[in-house]
Amino acid sequence: MQKIKIQTSATQKAKPTSAGELGFGKLFTDHMLVMDYAPGQGWGDIHVMPYAPFAMDPGCIVLHYAQTIFEGLKCYRRADGALQLFRPRDNFTRMNVSARRMCMPEIDVELVLEALKALLQLDGDWVPSWPGTSLYIRPTMIGTDTSLSVQASGAYRFFIILSPSGPYYASGLAPVNIYVEDEYVRAVVGGVGFAKTGGNYAASVLAGRVAAEKGFAQVLWLDGKENRYVEEIGAMNMFFLMREGLVTPPLNGSILGGITRDSIMALAAGMGHPVIERRLAIDEVFDAAERGDVLEAFGTGTAAVVSPVGVLRWGDRQVTLSGGRIGVLTQRLYDTLTGIQLGRLPDTHGWVEVV
Ligand code: PLP
Ligand code: COI
Repeated sequence: MQKIKIQTSATQKAKPTSAGELGFGKLFTDHMLVMDYAPGQGWGDIHVMPYAPFAMDPGCIVLHYAQTIFEGLKCYRRADGALQLFRPRDNFTRMNVSARRMCMPEIDVELVLEALKALLQLDGDWVPSWPGTSLYIRPTMIGTDTSLSVQASGAYRFFIILSPSGPYYASGLAPVNIYVEDEYVRAVVGGVGFAKTGGNYAASVLAGRVAAEKGFAQVLWLDGKENRYVEEIGAMNMFFLMREGLVTPPLNGSILGGITRDSIMALAAGMGHPVIERRLAIDEVFDAAERGDVLEAFGTGTAAVVSPVGVLRWGDRQVTLSGGRIGVLTQRLYDTLTGIQLGRLPDTHGWVEVV
């Protein structure tokens, strides 16, 4: 029987005193959660313990062949001071999907959630309440065998760290400029695009840098085979409000099944905008946008929430959507989603879990 063992930190770090000190994922709290897996024995006890660096053998599999998966979810402080998580089981369930693809052991969703709540009890004071802020939660698993042969590790470490964070984009809720990537690809069907594994992100950095040099905040990826169909943005799923309705690419194996995507689909349907999941060619998007038939576009993700697209650039074609402002539906979806997450609006979908 696995136990949750708690060891509190003797010291406390200074907490941020203003939203401006936060940034995204830069500060970490006083405690973390660690659980190790040994071959033949399975997962050991869960340790909620003082935040500290790991000592690792330089020959660890994760350091060479990137056998690693992660998740991202948030804990919010409600106006009455209580803390709540948004769809945490979905994140841990998705982590098990990633684990299967990367030949890693699955975790016990309920036990890990219980241990996460114990960690949040200890570090609850770190959950910020300034507008647009929350505690970002990063569960991670790494292969820890010391071996240079390309194979699945036998031993693993699962850990969770917590980071009080502001908006993913420093600009907060504001239209972002997106560069449609037509040279590099992020993922292919049959690969690991649907898994939340570190290599997907490492592989995306170069395109992101090139786009940033051209003045764009993010890259919109196209499919890896024809370089034509819209996939997703670096850390967000994509939605386009077209004349036919709200359209998003289907989960075809090369994009991440976003939990925000799923939430937005439910909320939009409830607002009379059932979402159409279909392949969307980038030339179709630009043709429609140039006719004025793309009314709004936005990305969705835990870190970025709902992020309106202002300018979209593809080769030498460029369109400005919603007059470069936040679209009406985009704003409404943002307000509704964050309203539920922050406990301002009723949670009719059973998404919220009080800590
Ligand atoms: N796509 C990618 C590649 C991501 O990294 C993320 C962020 O987690 C998303 C989409 C959005 O997923 P979610 O809404 O579950 O955060
Ligand atoms: C998230 O939205 O939680 C993510 O994991 C995106 C991350 C790559 C910043």
